[in-house]
Amino acid sequence: MPLLTPTPDLLIRSFTLDDLPALSALVKANRDHLRRWLPWADRVEYPSDEAMYVEMGIDKEARGDGFEGGIYRRGVLVGSVGMHYVVPETRATEIGYWLAGDQTGGGIMTAAVRAVVGYGFGVLKLNRIEIRAAAANTKSRAVPERLGFRLEGVLRRCHAIRDEIHDLAIYGLLADEWAG
Ligand SMILES: CC(C)(COP(=O)(O)OP(=O)(O)OC[C@H]1O[C@@H](n2cnc3c(N)ncnc32)[C@H](O)[C@@H]1OP(=O)(O)O)[C@@H](O)C(=O)NCCC(=O)NCCS
Repeated sequence: MPLLTPTPDLLIRSFTLDDLPALSALVKANRDHLRRWLPWADRVEYPSDEAMYVEMGIDKEARGDGFEGGIYRRGVLVGSVGMHYVVPETRATEIGYWLAGDQTGGGIMTAAVRAVVGYGFGVLKLNRIEIRAAAANTKSRAVPERLGFRLEGVLRRCHAIRDEIHDLAIYGLLADEWAG
């Protein structure tokens, strides 16, 4: 993936193994913030799981099957955004993301996802981009809503997070709906 610069302060680039110390430290410092909505934050072991995650991201990017990226604010890692996969037949992907707790509330993720959507439609020539969030995760849902994604449906009680089963909201955006 080329470097994406959503704003003069922000840079998105694919993780490499050199990013492991910063990534491990950030996930560890934000475990309580992330575990509310991201079940892996409970299970993750430092730094071996992050190494597997980064290697998996490098492999899938080499196959054209998505990427896992870091979001850097003035050079400091503050979160992550990526494409979980790319379905070749439909040219469709799903975007996932998280931010450090103390970096929320300033529009970083909306800007980051806007840039990744632009890359997906503009460079990868995707046809469809999806974002899935627990129905109760209003902060996450607000990101696709700000960017003009359509709420296409809510799958009922299909999304397990620790001992709770949540409804899952599915947002979609098509290439010809993207204003750029
Ligand atoms: C989901 C998550 C990334 C959203 O973070 P966020 O900071 O709310 O999202 P943004 O960075 O786009 O910022 C939006 C906030 O900044 C405000 N904001 C300020 N300037 C803004 C701008 N230029 N553009 C957009 N929003 C702006 C918005 O009003 C909003 O604040 P509000 O919620 O108080 O109204 C974050 O809550 C998170 O990491 N959660 C835990 C992990 C998670 O749930 N991941 C998603 C799983 S599906």
